[in-house]
Amino acid sequence: MVIVLGIESSCDETAAALVRSDRTVLAQHIASQDDAHRPYGGVVPEIAARAHAERLTPLIAATLADAGMTLAQVDAVAATAGPGLIGGVMVGLVTAKALAMASDKPLLAINHLEGHALSPRLADPDLHFPYMLLLVSGGHCQLLLVEGVGRYKRLATTIDDALGEAFDKSAKLLGLGYPGGPAVERLAAEGDPKAVPLPRPLLGSKEPHFSFAGLKSAVLRAKQSGEHRDADIAASFQQAAIDCLIDRTRRAIAKAGPVEALVVAGGVAANAAIRKALEALAGEHGLRFVAPPMALCTDNAAMIAWAGIERLALGQSDPLDFVARPRWPLDPDAAPARGAGVKA
Ligand code: KG4
Ligand code: ZN
Repeated sequence: MVIVLGIESSCDETAAALVRSDRTVLAQHIASQDDAHRPYGGVVPEIAARAHAERLTPLIAATLADAGMTLAQVDAVAATAGPGLIGGVMVGLVTAKALAMASDKPLLAINHLEGHALSPRLADPDLHFPYMLLLVSGGHCQLLLVEGVGRYKRLATTIDDALGEAFDKSAKLLGLGYPGGPAVERLAAEGDPKAVPLPRPLLGSKEPHFSFAGLKSAVLRAKQSGEHRDADIAASFQQAAIDCLIDRTRRAIAKAGPVEALVVAGGVAANAAIRKALEALAGEHGLRFVAPPMALCTDNAAMIAWAGIERLALGQSDPLDFVARPRWPLDPDAAPARGAGVKA
């Protein structure tokens, strides 16, 4: 039985967690920076990095105290080493290196996306490889075939915006504030999803890639036209997004061959309408549908500690001179999506 300290600081959550290899989360703390970024309607990298630097050390101390442990009782230190906002990633990784060095324990430099990809196995001991993962967050929109620890096939990514980004930008256009996803979902519940004709980018295209920029622009035009209720725009936007997700995920399942389960992770997985549609799709293919608890879907340190446990079990660790990576694809061999911008 091993215990790993996990650290997450790649975006706007500062987090620390202690996880045991029997899947027990012994303690964890997450400090959200929503309030700091709200005035700007999105994450400001410099503000994020400073907040991580201020908060991380006390957060780790509090996590150890909650578990009644000292660093000497921890078996390894795992931290997100990319991809993400580099200032924040460096704060977390440097802290992990210092702790690993001071306690003479192994360091695990974790790919944040690997944290998301393996997190469902922390929640569900019966989830075996291979599984299809839809990772939908503010920074990512990917379909990954998870074949094993360190073995990821990226079947699809977004050629422009991530879905969470589209939710956040649509929320801004509708004057709903930040973060926008939950606000759009609430407003959508009062609207008619068929009221506003909106595009479904890439629907039916051969490769299962995503595109949401055109949808977001259409939301802007619908708002500017003054012809629609905001609730109808929100409901129609959410429905268009769901139609795209389902069509693209169906295509990926067809491409992947046999899998054990359809799994969703990332902050957008909080959306009940999206979960419901994915559950139906899984049923259609006779697949188990796994949606980890929300606390594990959004950015957290337990998933980083767990990825560390999975890698440690395979005898892996990383050198103390591991360099933080702003971009770090999970599947370096994936062909670039046609028309893709700079997203990992
Ligand atoms: O995974 P996450 O916490 O952080 C990133 O790595 O980005 O995801 C945050 C994203 C934001 O874009 C937020 O608007 C979106 O998840 N989100 C939602 C909902 N709750 C959060 N999107 C749609 N519906 C929701 N209920
Ligand atoms: Zn994330």
